[in-house]
Amino acid sequence: MAREFTSVGVVGLGTMGAGIVEVFARNGIDVVAVEISAAALERGKVTLTGSTDRAVARGKLAEADRDALLARVDFQVGLDALHSVDLVIEAVPEHLDLKQRLFANLDRVCKPEAILATNTSSLSVTEISVATGRPSQVIGIHFFNPAPVMKLVEVVRTVVTSADVVADVEALCARLGKVDVTISDRAGFIANALLFGYLNHAVGMFESRYATREDIDAAMKLGCGLPMGPLALMDLIGLDTAAEILDTMYRHGGRDRRHAPVPLIRQMVTAGLLGRKSGRGFYTYERPGSPKVVPDELTPGETRPAAGDGTRAVGRVGVGSVRSELASPAGATRVGVVGSGPMATGIIEVFATAGYEVISVTRGAEKSAKVCEAVKTSLDKGVVRGRIGEADRDAALGRVTWSATLDHLAEVDLVVEAVVEERSVKKALFASLDEICKPGVVLATTTSSLPVIDLAMATQRPADVVGLHFFNPAPVMPLVEIVRTIRTSGETSATARAVCATLGKTGVICGDRAGFVVNALLLPYLNDAVRMLEASYATADDIDHAMKLGCGYPMGPFELLDVVGLDVALAIQRELYLELREPGFAPAPLLEHLVTAGYLGRKTGRGFRDHTRR
Ligand SMILES: NC(=O)c1ccc[n+]([C@@H]2O[C@H](COP(=O)([O-])OP(=O)(O)OC[C@H]3O[C@@H](n4cnc5c(N)ncnc54)[C@H](O)[C@@H]3O)[C@@H](O)[C@H]2O)c1
Repeated sequence: MAREFTSVGVVGLGTMGAGIVEVFARNGIDVVAVEISAAALERGKVTLTGSTDRAVARGKLAEADRDALLARVDFQVGLDALHSVDLVIEAVPEHLDLKQRLFANLDRVCKPEAILATNTSSLSVTEISVATGRPSQVIGIHFFNPAPVMKLVEVVRTVVTSADVVADVEALCARLGKVDVTISDRAGFIANALLFGYLNHAVGMFESRYATREDIDAAMKLGCGLPMGPLALMDLIGLDTAAEILDTMYRHGGRDRRHAPVPLIRQMVTAGLLGRKSGRGFYTYERPGSPKVVPDELTPGETRPAAGDGTRAVGRVGVGSVRSELASPAGATRVGVVGSGPMATGIIEVFATAGYEVISVTRGAEKSAKVCEAVKTSLDKGVVRGRIGEADRDAALGRVTWSATLDHLAEVDLVVEAVVEERSVKKALFASLDEICKPGVVLATTTSSLPVIDLAMATQRPADVVGLHFFNPAPVMPLVEIVRTIRTSGETSATARAVCATLGKTGVICGDRAGFVVNALLLPYLNDAVRMLEASYATADDIDHAMKLGCGYPMGPFELLDVVGLDVALAIQRELYLELREPGFAPAPLLEHLVTAGYLGRKTGRGFRDHTRR
């Protein structure tokens, strides 16, 4: 029979502790909520009542239930109040010595049969457990932020945790309506081990002004469907907590440089910019603890400092005048699209439906006919799904001219090339466009892996060359990465952004580096998941669960890899590794082997999972 938990203790009522109190009390369990001082206790109370009041306001909790919930919580200063609880979970700051001291005291205060649990994100549960005289009753119960919302709990079992304790805690998680994965004691467990390298990398991008905070966050939300961008997530986690987690993961997780906290994080912690809890982190909030972002000096549209050094490499992202003929498709603004694959097809549809006159150039009439057919089919689907009316479909098709000659691009205002991903082919195309197109035309490439500057330098007008990285399928995906090289003019990138807006897309501006924003942040995370599987730390199902239920990702890494294609993922990961030579970016051997074996994902029927049997 599973143990009955009638009362539990929660120590530390900060970002996590207050949420954990709410989870227990909501499920009918009495909670003794402990803080270190009266002031901290008051802050914890305010957090809890704020959260439950919001739940009432949103109709998710009845007023009477809120009152009953709050009545179950006994707020106390000091550990002595925990003498008769069945389980204690601590959520004090992420410092090993603090947690060890706390556990030694809990061991003294709590009844002998009580379970002692830590919510640590990265510290060794084993090292915490040996500070007590009952290591077999010590376990990790790692909730996710915000605890009342996120479904996942990682249950961390050390080599000495007793099987009964593990089973009791698993049953408790089920009673709390949570899904648990039980794993062994390793820095970062599943989710944080995969998350924090990504978060740190995103901060590095911001620190080096590779892209703005809004653009980095928008890219990951719109390009990958994540519930929040990495910098907003850092603010939610708390920069002090994140710094400690990264530090522990660096020291105990194999000294992977990707976990060494980016210097900006420490500077922000020292300056008291801890994120939401202090009212300011990467963003500024209405007041400490508030989730509401308010404008500040970095908000787009506010006055920004000029780059100052005369170059365009940093700072002036997307500022400058815009070529007006392209900013609005009204009239006869003409756009050339070169290529005949799925990307070109999607891009033709996107421009034509937005009202631009499109000249499609392929390598022959036969290919043009195929592309035309594909655009029609896609638009017809749009009609069936109610995305577009019949008249608009016909008008869009009427705006496309089909050609097999680049010379027809002499009068266009913008060219988007989406031909085969081969440097020599693209360079030759840009050299031809340079001869054919009128001056002042924006020349764009959809390359996902080649340096845009290589293509720009094939022309005599590198200031007019920019990357426009659409996502597949272009008519559906809301994001476009606008890649500016060190020679792209401010006017060109601002024009590209204005064009994206007329297409109903969000354009994010970034530098000309492998993977741009989305792939540079996404692929190493996927590669790390493969390494974790390869090390037999967790199963593919548990890893997928952890990222979906703990972090709100729409798909787990293995589901996503099977959709993207393992060969595609490997190719991008190789590019990232070759550009930066970062050891942590080296493709996982298992990924290489699966590709060699022809297990490429859904497209071949088998990748990490067998899709033929489903
Ligand atoms: N922030 C997250 O997203 C997140 C997610 C999962 C797990 N965690 C883990 O949860 C733990 C707490 O993190 P947090 O972000 O809530 O930290 P926090 O800084 O927001 O809160 C810590 C709280 O502990 C209190 N405290 C400090 N010493 C204490 C003591 N001796 N006795 C009682 N209370 C004490 C502080 O007053 C503070 O209110 C850490 O181990 C962290 O790694 C954090």
